[in-house]
Amino acid sequence: MTESTTEPARQAPHTPPTLHSPHSPHSPHSPLSPHSADGPSSRPVSFPQDRGCPYHPPAAYAPLREEAPLSRVTFWDGSTVWAVTGHALARELLADPRLSSDRERPDFPAPTERFAKSGARRVALLGVDDPEHNAQRRMLIPSFSLKRITGLRPGIQQTVDRLLDAMERQGPPADLVASFALPVPSMVICALLGVPYADHEFFEERSRRLLRGPAAADVQRAREELEDYLGDLIDRKRTDPGDGLLDELIHRDGPDGPPDRDQLIAYAVILLVAGHETTANMISLGTFTLLRHPEQLAALREGRTPTGAAVEELLRFLSIADGLLRIAKEDMEVAGATVRAGDGVMFSTSLINRDDEAFEAPERLDWERSARHHLAFGFGIHQCLGQNLARAELEIAFDSLLRRFPALRLAAPAEDIPFKPGDTIQGMLELPVAW
Ligand code: HEM
Repeated sequence: MTESTTEPARQAPHTPPTLHSPHSPHSPHSPLSPHSADGPSSRPVSFPQDRGCPYHPPAAYAPLREEAPLSRVTFWDGSTVWAVTGHALARELLADPRLSSDRERPDFPAPTERFAKSGARRVALLGVDDPEHNAQRRMLIPSFSLKRITGLRPGIQQTVDRLLDAMERQGPPADLVASFALPVPSMVICALLGVPYADHEFFEERSRRLLRGPAAADVQRAREELEDYLGDLIDRKRTDPGDGLLDELIHRDGPDGPPDRDQLIAYAVILLVAGHETTANMISLGTFTLLRHPEQLAALREGRTPTGAAVEELLRFLSIADGLLRIAKEDMEVAGATVRAGDGVMFSTSLINRDDEAFEAPERLDWERSARHHLAFGFGIHQCLGQNLARAELEIAFDSLLRRFPALRLAAPAEDIPFKPGDTIQGMLELPVAW
């Protein structure tokens, strides 16, 4: 996943991984072949690139699709990593323990300079392998079961209604990103963790800077302030318990006893980082996409399509977290090529979720298809822990927004509305709407 949903990678001079036996069984002009006949044009595609349309993968990724399921791409520093773009291969490899998520490994792939420079730090869950990963995941999983998330729905609905009330009071036009898409997940995570409402402004401001801060130094400062705050909060909760996830975790027994203060902080930070920007971008980009697809929007408004099915198809279609990262722990034969120990492997979810062997007419936003096997939440042991929560938030957000504003429309020409660059989670920077 690109960096805005993950903890920063370790700071290390980035040495390009070496690729070996790069021969594709699919094409004589394979980008896997460094010396193929068509010379420089067969150079690997650079990744990530900006989308031309916010809801389609960049047109420049076309060679990767031709080379599916395995190709290679270059990153900002000229390093080359394997790119998995086929659905079946992605499922196989994301479940393969020979690929590691350990960001502290030398040569762990860094798709952007920001990712490479963002500091040496261990990342809970997303950045660790089994058996440690399994122990951490088991600690958190009871708090994310479908039953628990169903219990959170009334609270999420209240949050969403309050935000829509405020939008309605202020009147059109509004920026849906600032007034709705960002605060929904932020307020939900606050409530989930058990951050007292009195602190929510401090908490949200620091989380926003941590996730969106322009300068690395500022991001670092926000992280430290947030970690200090969470540490104090955990200390307070030991004597004055509340009913949030942190309160539960303080007393939850794992194989080595309950998590200590640092572990609790690490869990809170990963939940915040992984669950905030992702959901916010699905709300903003999802709404933009709906407003650009009037037929599908009408089917949703008129109740001909269940919101749950629409959310699933939007997750597939938008694939906002493009570029999941792994490193090979040992040599592996993959789709006719040899991936060597130390090679970086990148999974392009935007291409995997448009693999026509897994989805018929994948370029079409189609409420009728069953999209549930998409990989927008990843696959294997690191598959999104918060997916039930994300689904609940998205269903409630889209349902409530469309019900509240039956005439919701863009308040600027679609081409003028800025969206996020390719090197981060995909979404809208602003979304001016009227009703
Ligand atoms: C629509 C919103 C979301 C999307 C698209 C999304 C996507 C993803 C993806 C693709 C992964 C796998 C990354 C990898 O394999 O490298 C992941 C992991 C994760 N997500 Fe989400 N996510 C979303 C919402 C959330 C929410 C709301 C939370 C929690 C509050 C959350 C918590 C996590 C955690 C903790 C992991 C790491 C799991 C592990 O390593 O075991 N996510 N997410």
